[in-house]
Amino acid sequence: MTQAEVHRAGDAPAKVDLQQGETYYWCACGRSAAQPFCDGSHQGTGLAPVVFVASKTETVFLCTCKQTLNPPRCDGSHKS
Ligand code: FES
Repeated sequence: MTQAEVHRAGDAPAKVDLQQGETYYWCACGRSAAQPFCDGSHQGTGLAPVVFVASKTETVFLCTCKQTLNPPRCDGSHKS
């Protein structure tokens, strides 16, 4: 299967409160209606979410433009 294009889901990062030890599924395809997290809309695209476990309880900024080079976190790429 060929990979579908990644969609730009937003023009600014999403501020999210993470809980230590929780597993999260960051949407990498840009199609989720539940940004910045996966809602299963990537099915059939060949793309998949980035799965991560929060190492501590903290507030973070997660990428929604899907151009970050440091997923799932915003690296400022939405400005370019
Ligand atoms: Fe985008 Fe699952 S909906 S990775």
